[in-house]
Amino acid sequence: MDQPGFKKSLALSNLPDNQSVETEIENMALLLHRRGDQVFATGVYCPHAEVRLDPRNCDGDLIICKAHGYRSNIKTGVCLNEPDLKLNNFPTVIEDGVVWVKMF
Ligand code: FES
Repeated sequence: MDQPGFKKSLALSNLPDNQSVETEIENMALLLHRRGDQVFATGVYCPHAEVRLDPRNCDGDLIICKAHGYRSNIKTGVCLNEPDLKLNNFPTVIEDGVVWVKMF
């Protein structure tokens, strides 16, 4: 990977399709969501009131916060309950079977 800012994360083979997991890159927690051949990286906190999200609580492309039920799209970050709120999203690249995430 020769693009600036990208950090190595999981091997794609360690992330089954349609699953989301919490991981850490350089001491920063984030969620990785595999959907087919794509992986989306998001922050771990709900955009509503910063409650930590559970990666097991996804329904398709939505992650649902257990605190008040807000649903956010993992691909766009948009919160369906309050469209002005956005989940943090990080660009990803898959190269040679490895997921790379642009953190900053
Ligand atoms: S903190 Fe997540 S829905 Fe309120």
